[in-house]
Order: sequence, then C-alpha cells, then structure tokens
Amino acid sequence: MIKCFFFPPILIRQSSKLPFQLGMCVNNSLLISVEEIQTDECADLNNITLLEYRRQRVQLHVQYLLLTRTNMDCAQMFNTDSLNGQTSYFNISHPTKVIIHGYRALGSKPSWVKELAQALLTAQDANVLVVDWIYGASFAYNLVVENYREVALQISFLIRQLQKHGCKLESFHFIGISLGAHVAGFVGSLFEGKIGRITALDPAGPMFKGADIYDRLDPSDAQFVDAIHTDSDSFGISIPVGHVDFFLNGGKDQTGCARSRFASILVYFPVYGYVICDHMRALHVYMSALNGSCPLRGVPCYSYENFQMGQCVDCKVFEGTCPTIGLLENSGITMTPIPREQKLFLLTSSAPPFCTHHILLKLEVSPLDKSAEVKVTLRTENQETEQRIRLQTSTTVYRTVLAHPVALCQINSIKLSNTGAHFYRQSNIHVKSVCVSEFLSLRYGRNPLCVNNVSVRRGAPWSHDFVQVCDV
Ligand SMILES: *[C@@H]1O[C@H](CO)[C@@H](O)[C@H](O)[C@H]1NC(C)=O
Ligand SMILES: *[C@@H]1O[C@H](CO)[C@@H](O)[C@H](O)[C@H]1NC(C)=O
Ligand SMILES: *[C@@H]1O[C@H](CO)[C@@H](O)[C@H](O)[C@H]1NC(C)=O
Ligand SMILES: *[C@@H]1O[C@H](CO)[C@@H](O)[C@H](O)[C@H]1NC(C)=O
Repeated sequence: MIKCFFFPPILIRQSSKLPFQLGMCVNNSLLISVEEIQTDECADLNNITLLEYRRQRVQLHVQYLLLTRTNMDCAQMFNTDSLNGQTSYFNISHPTKVIIHGYRALGSKPSWVKELAQALLTAQDANVLVVDWIYGASFAYNLVVENYREVALQISFLIRQLQKHGCKLESFHFIGISLGAHVAGFVGSLFEGKIGRITALDPAGPMFKGADIYDRLDPSDAQFVDAIHTDSDSFGISIPVGHVDFFLNGGKDQTGCARSRFASILVYFPVYGYVICDHMRALHVYMSALNGSCPLRGVPCYSYENFQMGQCVDCKVFEGTCPTIGLLENSGITMTPIPREQKLFLLTSSAPPFCTHHILLKLEVSPLDKSAEVKVTLRTENQETEQRIRLQTSTTVYRTVLAHPVALCQINSIKLSNTGAHFYRQSNIHVKSVCVSEFLSLRYGRNPLCVNNVSVRRGAPWSHDFVQVCDV
C-alpha cells in the first residue's frame, strides 16, 4: 500500500498553502518518491457564512498565517510543526508581531490584515503572525465573547512552543483589534505580564467595560500596553486599559465619519461599514503612524473637556517628551516607572496621514455687561479656520484648542468679528489680547502670534496681517 506524507504534516488540510511543500511517498516502508511540490497559492484567512454557521456546531478552527519580509505578499500557514521543517520563513532571532482581529458580524475575513502586516514589516524586520479565529468570532456577539478565552489559550500554546525553540516572551508584540485586544490581554495574563507589548486598537467595550481586569485588557498584561481609542461611546471601551491610552478627538466621534441618529438600528448589513467608521479609525491611524510620515503625539490630560479648554499643552509629566503612536519603545516614554492608565489626547484630521496642527487660541477681553460672541478667523494662503467663542459677563479669559491644517508659521492673518445676538444692541467688545500658539509639535514653545488692544464693533470686522516665514 502506498502512503504519502507531507511536511509539515498539517499541509494535507485543504486550507494549508505554503509556497512550496515537501511530499514523501512510501510503498510498504520502501521510499518511492520525495518531491518538492510548488504551490503558488498563498494562505488566506477563513470566512464563514451564516448558513454554514447554523448548520454545524462550529469549532474554533484557529489558524495562523505568517508574513515576513521574504513573503510580504504571500502568507504561509504556520503551526507548531512549522519550526521543525525547513519551509517556514519564521526567523527565531526576529521579534514577532501577533495580529488578532476582533468580532466579525458577517463572518467575512477582515480586509485590512495584509495592509497592517505590510505596514509592520516595512517598519520592522519581524515575523508577523496573523491569528485567524473567524469561526469563533462571527455572528452572535455574546457567543463570540464566550470564545475569546479559548482562543487565547490556543495562542498561548503556540507561544509556549515558540519559547521552546528559543523565542523570548519579551520579543512578542500583540496587536489586538477591538475584541482581539482582550484576547491579547488574556494571553498576556496567562504569561503573567511577561510578554513584551500589547497594542490595543479601539479595544472592545460591550461586555468588557465593567469586567474584572482578569477578564479584560489592563496594564498588567504586558510589559508595555498602549491603546488607541476612537469609538468609546459605542463599540470601543471608554476607560483606560493600558499604560498609555490615546483618545483621538476625545475618543468618541472621528472627523470624516458620518453621524446618523439611526446608527443604532442600522448595525446590520449593508451599512455596517458606515457604522463602524469610528471604530476602525484606530486601525487606520495606527497603520498610518507605522508609515512614519508625521508624528502623532498625545498630551496627558484629566479629560477631553480640559484638553479642549487648553489646560493641557505640554508633556512635563513625561519629562518633556510626548508619547507617540507607533512602534517606538514604550511609545517614546523614557521615564521609569512608566505611568499606568495615562489618558492622552490629540486631534486628528479625517484622512491619512491624520496629523493636524494643534493651535491654542487665547482670548482676553475687558469685562462685559452682556453676553456676546466673537468669531476668530485664522487665515493662511488658501484656507480659513473659524472659531466662535461665546463670551460671558463672568469671565474675561477664554482658551480653546483647534485642529489646524497647517503650522502656526503659515498663518498670515487673524480676523476678529463681533457676532453677538441680533435682537439687542451689541456694544463694542474690547479685546485686550488674542494669541495663537502651537503645541504638540517640534515648534512647541515658539512665540505665539498676538494682537493686543482692539475694539471690535458689530458689523465691522477687524483684521491683522502677519508677515512670517517658516524655517525648515
Ligand atoms: C470564502 O472561503 C472560500 C473557501 O473556503 C473561498 O472559496 C471564498 O472565495 C471565500 N470568500 C470570500 C468572500 O473570501
Ligand atoms: C534570521 O535573522 C538573523 C538576524 O536578522 C539573520 O542574521 C539570519 O540570517 C536570519 N535567518 C534566516 C534563515 O533568514
Ligand atoms: C504609507 O505611505 C505610502 C507612501 O509613502 C502610501 O502609498 C500608503 O498609502 C501609506 N499607507 C498608509 C496606511 O497610510
Ligand atoms: C489701547 O488703544 C487705545 C486707542 O485705540 C489707546 O488709547 C490706549 O492707550 C491703548 N491701551 C494700551 C494698553 O495699549
């Protein structure tokens, strides 16, 4: 009887596709052929339809895809046997990035996996392992939540095998998207926080916010945990879960994502993609940060409201260096011990590379006897940014933070308009000073642009031009 063996053995499974594989056939223990079989098909993630899901008692079918700089375009299947053969591109001396996707409402495979893997590989020579747990992650969210620990256990088994081959726990960096962040957290707790790093991209909120830290991601799960929050009022979690937690635009609603009051009832196909725009923004911002075209830094602050009021404009608590989104060790934090659950805030634009300039606007007026409104317009070569400020009789100093498309040095005029209520006679507003400065950039600390002592009449806007040059 002729028997054939394949190496690694798992290759017999239909879903296992390596660029090449070794086959050996024996006839009554007599070797009759050994060949290298070229398989030009690349490995891919699973997908599952609702029908299949309902028909069978679904198994988890966790599988791993490997991408490296050698096979950036064509994933290899990876399993505990891969290291015994010669065919795997896994390099034990390289760090390992483990990508874990989240909940899949429709059972489809995530479309961004390759892009994220390639962005990671461009930034760092590493092994990128993609955990495919589509079978366990699809359809009923409450059942998916039941599966995530089992998936984590299976991953921990793989990690232990890799440890036996010489991989160090600190060389692992998990990148968990949504629910995948809690899977990573659970793997981390199984290794008592000795894993190098966990990056959580909008870690899931539903069924996790009130959870015990054993059940959800928290800073004790790895030596360093960083999180990006973009949808904390819906699919994401609103509490800090890492050493540093970046809340983009306050962490709830993202620029360029359409709002709908029907969003809650339209969670199903075909508007799903639209509803998860905020949630997926964390991933897109992270990929863009890996590209390194511009730095995305956050400032520590107690709350977004305080940040918006310009009360947090520096990183003195981090000895002057603001933490940065991306692969910098400990997000660029050099102080020890590293703070925990530190909320960081930054504004972004609506499209890659998402960076924006943070402008602090400070307005001081003489006391008023009625409430009023001032409109401040910052003009550059080809655009304008407007900010309306409500003035109260009780306050004379107003601070606000704006996202500005270009640097402070490109602002060439400040215009002030008195836009008070129409139905009563609005008196002049005496502006003692209006100043704009930039923070969260390398230009931080440069002199602000100021205009002093201006009286603004209703219907007669006042404007001041600046002649500036941006030094390189
Ligand atoms: C789903 O997987 C099957 C193989 O299992 C494949 O033929 C099909 O193209 C996949 N569908 C999608 C949308 O990826
Ligand atoms: C593994 O990585 C090390 C360090 O980058 C390199 O020297 C070595 O050649 C690599 N091994 C293989 C098989 O590519
Ligand atoms: C990364 O940068 C390249 C060019 O520099 C660009 O083509 C690509 O779209 C960028 N990717 C992301 C995710 O920003
Ligand atoms: C403000 O301007 C007014 C006239 O426009 C002038 O009389 C006054 O001295 C100025 N005050 C200061 C502090 O510069």
